[in-house]
Amino acid sequence: MPSGPTPMPGRRCRSCSAPAGAEGDVGGMIVCLCNALTDRQLEQAVAQGARRPREVYAACDCKAQCGTCTRMVLGMIRDAVLQPAAGEATMAAG
Ligand code: FES
Repeated sequence: MPSGPTPMPGRRCRSCSAPAGAEGDVGGMIVCLCNALTDRQLEQAVAQGARRPREVYAACDCKAQCGTCTRMVLGMIRDAVLQPAAGEATMAAG
């Protein structure tokens, strides 16, 4: 019995080039069941500048389907925007 999600045929994350949900991808927890996207894939898309859920899904070469994961994607974007860059935190502290 296969473990993990069933890969979407031909679907690859544009951020990390891993087949979505396939064995050997970047790993992580599946956040978007409809598109078999992991938290790592979504975080990578946000780290590369996606600032709207639509941009995050587009970076992973898909669209939101049911929308259940959108709150989590919004949380990732919010965390990325609110989190100061490492250099800024060091400068502010010292
Ligand atoms: S769980 Fe992400 S669109 Fe349905």
